[in-house]
Amino acid sequence: MDTIRIKDKTFAVSIPEADIQREVARVANEINRDLDGQNPLFVSVLNGAFMFTADLMKHITIPCEISFVKLVSYAGTSSTGIVKEVIGLNEDIEGRTVVITEDIVDTGLTMQRLIADLEKHRPRAIHIASLLVKPGKLEVPLDIRYVAMNIPNDFIVGYGLDYDGWGRNYRDIYTVCNE
Ligand code: PRP
Repeated sequence: MDTIRIKDKTFAVSIPEADIQREVARVANEINRDLDGQNPLFVSVLNGAFMFTADLMKHITIPCEISFVKLVSYAGTSSTGIVKEVIGLNEDIEGRTVVITEDIVDTGLTMQRLIADLEKHRPRAIHIASLLVKPGKLEVPLDIRYVAMNIPNDFIVGYGLDYDGWGRNYRDIYTVCNE
């Protein structure tokens, strides 16, 4: 399927499955090399990261654990007006090497919030592994150690990423077409 239709928008393939899989395997091999002996805990951020995390983990060959968290947004009284609460982390991460797996880093605010929360529990180190990064949209300084692909500021779906909840199931990544 070269193009797909979701609600009012048409999307065309921009990153084919083979390219995604190649870069995911590369990132996994970097993690295997760098974190050997550290028994990392992978923390996957739902919902978007589910497919990236599953494929990444199939290439991880060092001893490790995996857990899943969700950041729940609700209107609050912070400066941004949005408060994100981290739910679901039950592991004791004190002294552990943590690898956060994300589908996309956009403004970086989600990562900043999650890292601040994890750091309260005194891990040994926190690394970010993101399938996609939009360098043009980063608003906060972030050290993203593992990046499968940098992309422009386009609206994309597929491979875990959604448009209003739809489109997460596709194997390829699609970019919205100008209509
Ligand atoms: C998306 C994505 C990241 C976040 C990145 O999640 O999965 O978690 O946005 O954006 P940021 O860098 O600007 O914070 P979303 O809140 O859409 O939820 P989802 O994972 O369930 O799609």
